[in-house]
Amino acid sequence: MNDRVTVKTLQSMKKKGAKISMLTAYDYPTAKMLDAANVDCILVGDSLGMVVQGKTTTIPVTLDEMIYHGEIVARATAHAMVIVDLPFPVGQLSIAHTVESAATIMKRTQCQAVKMEGGHQQASAIRAMVDAGIPTIAHIGLRPQSVHALGGYRVQRDAEQLMNDAKAAQEAGAFCILIECVPPELAKQATEMLSVPTIGIGAGPFCDGQVLVTNDMLGWNSGYVPKFVRQYADLKNAAEQAVTRFRDDVQKGIFPSADESF
Ligand code: KIV
Repeated sequence: MNDRVTVKTLQSMKKKGAKISMLTAYDYPTAKMLDAANVDCILVGDSLGMVVQGKTTTIPVTLDEMIYHGEIVARATAHAMVIVDLPFPVGQLSIAHTVESAATIMKRTQCQAVKMEGGHQQASAIRAMVDAGIPTIAHIGLRPQSVHALGGYRVQRDAEQLMNDAKAAQEAGAFCILIECVPPELAKQATEMLSVPTIGIGAGPFCDGQVLVTNDMLGWNSGYVPKFVRQYADLKNAAEQAVTRFRDDVQKGIFPSADESF
């Protein structure tokens, strides 16, 4: 039986008031673990530029890199909806380029949907992707690919712009709207206004679902952790302790034992 989460599943979750869970993955074991834990959606985010590649923004991430990681994650899953990000500047250039790039992602990764940063200004591109049969999530509020234009990673407080972006993206056919770093009351207003589900990150508790970067919530990261992250595990410390024990055992000559040898 195919019990993959679909666009319709998310729509009916919004109707029922059932909250949607989304986490990021970039590799096979993480994607398998999230799928086994029954997370509704797995996002192959361009956050991979910062989380996996150690870069300071998501801007350098390429289409080929998104396809490489997207294919691995999609292959690891059977249940979750897999969504792959359109990297910068896909979505900001010509509509034909956007649709072609999104179609290539769908074809080569076998993901179920794509996500694109933008709302009102990208409405024609969203419409063209949806018309081409590509389920599309619009990412509004703080758009990390526009970090330099926005003057940094700041909370976005412009209510009029948020509502315009949300409305335009829904009207263009986006099946879900991801809202990043806005005050809770604005996310609430958008969630109540829209018929499609909203997924929040740093947007308070009123969205239809929540997303976090998995490395942040597992404590498996190399730097700054935003205020909105709840850390559910401390994998970095656990791993460091394990590695230290391995190093000590090697230095003492007590690894490997007879049982660990042929
Ligand atoms: O790229 C990403 O991981 C994202 C999340 C921050 C939502 O867009």
